Amino acid sequence: MKSGLEDVVAAETILSDVDGLAGRLIMRGVSLDDLAGTPYEQVLSLLWTGFLELPQDLPGALARARTEVFAHVAGADPSLEPVDAIRALMALIPDGNDLETALRLVAAPAVFTPAILRLKSGQQPVAPRRGLGHAADILHMLTGKTPSPQQAAALDAYLVTVADHGLNASTFTARVVASTGAGLTSAVLAALGALKGPLHGGAPGPVLDMLDAIGTPANAEPWLEAALTRGDRLMGFGHRIYRVRDPRADALKLALRPLVAAGEVDKDRVALAEAVEAAALALLKRKKPDRPLETNVEFYTALLLEALGFPRSAFTCVFTMGRTGGWIAHAKEQAATGRLIRPQSRYVGPAPLQAA
Ligand code: ACO
Repeated sequence: MKSGLEDVVAAETILSDVDGLAGRLIMRGVSLDDLAGTPYEQVLSLLWTGFLELPQDLPGALARARTEVFAHVAGADPSLEPVDAIRALMALIPDGNDLETALRLVAAPAVFTPAILRLKSGQQPVAPRRGLGHAADILHMLTGKTPSPQQAAALDAYLVTVADHGLNASTFTARVVASTGAGLTSAVLAALGALKGPLHGGAPGPVLDMLDAIGTPANAEPWLEAALTRGDRLMGFGHRIYRVRDPRADALKLALRPLVAAGEVDKDRVALAEAVEAAALALLKRKKPDRPLETNVEFYTALLLEALGFPRSAFTCVFTMGRTGGWIAHAKEQAATGRLIRPQSRYVGPAPLQAA
């Protein structure tokens, strides 16, 4: 028995495949590289085909769902951490298994995150605007302004990159809940609980804390060496499945480029991140020679989301915006098997005392 269940195959899926040795991610037969430039709505169609009754105009239906869920913003509690605040609002969406529920669940983090961030800084929430794509509308609700095409494309690239990723901890959670017949809202809320942990989706905030603490490219090596000597883990490096570079790290590094060219990212920040990445990879190779440890998705996520104006406290919420589409597809796929997930545990506690 391995407590991390590595090597255990717990589902058959047509949704995505993570090849940890080749460093390749496939979503329904399409390689992540070939999804570059695809709007998130199109990836939703790709993932949901065969599992939900898709409308002719999915972007329009998702835009309507954004408007519907905006009504819940009135009940937001901005004193909570953003991820706790969006979870509380998402719990207001009634459980169901239909397209309407699925669209509301995808719309919810996209609408609630900007609203909560604005409320936290004493500003009024901005309502969704028809005619904008999903990614552009999220940035519009965040800033109150129409984003540049480069900004909208960068957020789209992020949402697409994280839309699905095999049987990761949160997706497995969604499938377990779906297998009980509980419905999509329950599956998505449980998955969100799993995602928020720092060993899963909660890492990009700490990546920026690390960049801030390092401060200058020259300080990268001594700082990282001291961290490893203390036994700390370097955030944004290592992965349970990938033994080579996480292909999502490259997809996001690529998505950053147009923002850098348009002057929408601080060039010094990018230079610092590149110096930290190079120093970290060299040190990990030297200090952990038996374990290939490479850059994971969270490292460039941190830079990209920072450049788009999201505070680090909300990074898990933005991850949720993308991954909800994948969770829903997996929940539907699991529910269709009609089989309850119920593994065994081995009892290693004391035996009952024998009566004298
Ligand atoms: N920094 C330093 N050492 C590391 C790191 C790291 N980031 N990751 C793993 N190691 C070391 C461990 O200390 C261990 O060394 P040891 O054998 O000398 O004790 C060895 O590598 C194996 O570690 P495991 O815990 O078995 O590796 P696991 O597969 O469980 O780790 C994980 C995966 C949790 C992602 C890990 O690499 C980690 O903690 N990374 C930092 C956090 C992070 O970036 N999380 C985001 C992951 S991406 C995602 O979920 C979306």
